[in-house]
This record gives sequence, C-alpha cells and structure tokens, in this order.
Amino acid sequence: MAKILIEGGKSLSGSIKVSGAKNAALPIMAGVILSTGPVRLTNVPALNDVDTMAKVLQALGVKSTYGGNNVYNFDASGSLSDEAPYELVKTMRASFFVMGPLLARLKKARVPLPGGCAIGVRPVNIHLKGFEALGAQVSIEGGCAVAVAEKLRGARIILDFPSVGATENLMMAATLAEGRTLIENSAQEPEIVDLAKFLNSIGARIEGAGSPTITIEGVERLGGSEYRVMADRIEAGTFAVLGAMTGGPVRVENCEPDHLLALINKLREMGAEVTCEADAMIVRSNGRLKAVEVKTLPYPGFATDLQAQLMAAMCLAKGSSSVTETIFENRFMHVSELARMGASIAIHDRTAVVHGVKSLQGAPVSATDLRAGAAMVLAGLVAEGQTEISQVYHIDRGYEDLVGRITKLGARIKRIEEPVAQK
Ligand code: EPZ
Repeated sequence: MAKILIEGGKSLSGSIKVSGAKNAALPIMAGVILSTGPVRLTNVPALNDVDTMAKVLQALGVKSTYGGNNVYNFDASGSLSDEAPYELVKTMRASFFVMGPLLARLKKARVPLPGGCAIGVRPVNIHLKGFEALGAQVSIEGGCAVAVAEKLRGARIILDFPSVGATENLMMAATLAEGRTLIENSAQEPEIVDLAKFLNSIGARIEGAGSPTITIEGVERLGGSEYRVMADRIEAGTFAVLGAMTGGPVRVENCEPDHLLALINKLREMGAEVTCEADAMIVRSNGRLKAVEVKTLPYPGFATDLQAQLMAAMCLAKGSSSVTETIFENRFMHVSELARMGASIAIHDRTAVVHGVKSLQGAPVSATDLRAGAAMVLAGLVAEGQTEISQVYHIDRGYEDLVGRITKLGARIKRIEEPVAQK
C-alpha cells in the first residue's frame, strides 16, 4: 500500500501544469461507443479511473489502445456487447455513463447499478427516468439497470436535479434518437460542454450545452474524430488553493480560469492575490488568510469537488469560516482527519463551521475520498512536522503524479510503497 509523507511548513513557489480533466475524459470515453469511425483522444489524464474506463470499453468490444503521451486511440466500429462487466463497474461509478451510448447504439443496455461511495448513496433514478422518457423500457434485474427500446424518440426531459451524470448519459442517448430532445434543468458544468463538443465532432447535433436547456437533434449515425480533452478545473482549483495556503507565487498552467470564478472570488475574499491569464493563474498570499463562508452549488456555483480543499485553507484562516455542502449528503469525512492535525471544526447538519487556528500539526491521516485526499495533502504542506497520508489510491484516481508535481514547487513530499503485509 502506498503512503505520502510530507514535511510541512515550507513556502512553495513555481509553476505547475494541469492535466486533462478526469470528469470530461470519462464521459467522452463512454461517448466513443457511439462512434463508427476511429477516435483519437489527446490530453487524457493518466489516472486509474481512465484505465478502468478503457477496460470497460474493451470488455464491450471497443478497441482501446493507449498511445503514450496522454493519447488514447479507440475503434468502436465492430460489434459491441450490450452488457458492461460488474467487476469493473463496481470499482468506478462513472462506468454507468456507458448506459446511454449502449442504449442509443444497440437499443439495449444492461449495466450494473453503481454502488454508492464514501460521499453518498448516489442513485441513478434521474438517468433511468430520462431513458424512459426517450422510449426505453427500464427495469432492475439482478443488480443491473436494464433498458430496451424498439426505437428511441426525441422527448422533452426535465431533470429533477441538474445531475452532471444524468445530463451526460441522456445527452449521449439522445444523439441517435429520432427527432428532437430537450433536456431542461440540465447541469451546466464545463465537462458537459466538453462532452457536447466531442459528440458534435463525431457528427452529433447538440446546442445549448453549458446552459440550463440542451437541445439534441437525433442523427442516423456518428463517425470518428480527433479530440483534445479540456483542462481539469478541479485540479487547477486544488493548486490555486495550494498557492494561497503556502504563500506562493504558484503559477497554475494549462488551465481555464473562467471555469473557476467562484473559487477565485473566495480566494480573493480570503485575501489571496489571484492573477488570471488566458490559460494560467498566478496565486500568492502574504500573511494569514481571512475566514469566509462557502456554499456548494451546481455550476457556476462553488464546486463541491473543491469544498474539502478550501476547508483545508480555512483551518488556518483568521476567524470562523463555514462550508455548507448541498450536493452530497456525506462529504465531510475530511473533517475528522483535519481535526487529527489540530483543526477546530464543528458540523451542524450540512454545514461545517471552521474556527481558524494558528497552526496545524503533522499526523498520520487517511484519504477518505478523492478530493478529501487532496485536502489532506494541502494540510500536510502547511502543518508543522510530518504528515503521513494513507489510502492514497483515492488520490491516484484523480491526480496524475501529484507528488512529483508538488515536489517541483519545493515541497518536502514523497511517496513510499509500504510492503503489503504477508498473509
Ligand atoms: C459528477 O458526479 C462528478 N463525477 C463528481 O466528481 C462531482 O462531484 C459531481 O458530478 C457533482 O459535480 C464525474 O463526473 C465522474 P451528480 P455525478 O449526478 O454525475 C444526486 C470527483 O471527485 N443524484 O451531479 O455522480 C446525487 O446523489 C467526483 O471527481 C440523484 O439523486 O454527480 C448527488 O447528491 C465526485 N439521482 C447529486 O445528485 C441521480 O440520478 C449530484 O450528483 C443522479 C444524481
């Protein structure tokens, strides 16, 4: 099992490059199922979740080859299976994104229901209701969602909640439906826009992605293309918080600051200096950050995936901050880990109140989910003494070579592989 060791307390500065976006690459890879021509994706982050999605595609009959340098080549022109393998789907809920493309392409799909995860139950009812609206018969059989349709017909779908995954799954299903589909109250995240751009690059006719109403005109078939995955805004935001916490200046490169306006506003409110360029942010701070109030909301509101990271910064801010998590029902597991380092945080329902302390002390802590793991790295970088982070496989799911890149900023951080205890 790997661990991350950090000797905290150093001010960090330098440049750090952002990878391609995990939460764009995963739905786009699922969208490859719709293509009948070769697809070449570039700027694909080298992450465990991406490997898992490539394996799921392979199992469905899509030829998937990694060409090195963050390039993947796919060929989905052959005959495909309509059944996604349980062993793989259970390890990564984003595999459920293959349901819409399989239903559109094969008029049948059988996909294991993704389990919940640490941050919540994460049902897929909105996805399934949308498939029914498009004319599919949907049932649950043996732990799998099964959808069958003679033909998919365009429909007006109003989402109960602007679910990112449901918007993506339904947008993909509608590309080959007969007629026009409207998805209303759709999620507006930049990853939705990136997926729509990819789908349009293989011949889909999608408009309005990034707005609350997306229009999809169904087409007969979709071809192939070459497409570059967008920059990872959550990774960029994580590094911006790092710059504010450690003093910086940290130059976050290959990112799109326009995707992070809610975070940038909060960092500035806390007293950090954030300078934006077309594809970079420079973040610095001098002296103690100030407390701030944050509420997570669907995009363009403050991203739930940056909540844990900003909370790490709040731990040392002057005054009492608050974080209200409105998207997931259990996304405060990092609170007890931060408390182990001396943070003073109280949880009242969906709000955590963070009383700033003068310093944090290094301690053995664990990464309880992907973004909480990133928050523990940030806390370790500013704590006094050594922090040892376990369960780093969570971090590997969403951050490519995090230790290597942070080392370049001058941090005393390293990854150690602990021998697995012999049974
Ligand atoms: C995506 O998850 C992201 N994952 C998550 O990132 C992100 O936190 C989330 O969107 C919100 O921005 C990927 O893109 C792979 P949702 P998703 O459907 O699609 C409820 C990370 O750290 N809901 O918008 O699963 C659900 O329970 C991950 O990279 C239903 O009730 O998010 C949750 O409370 C974590 N029924 C809320 O909506 C449904 O059918 C938001 O879920 C679907 C969702």
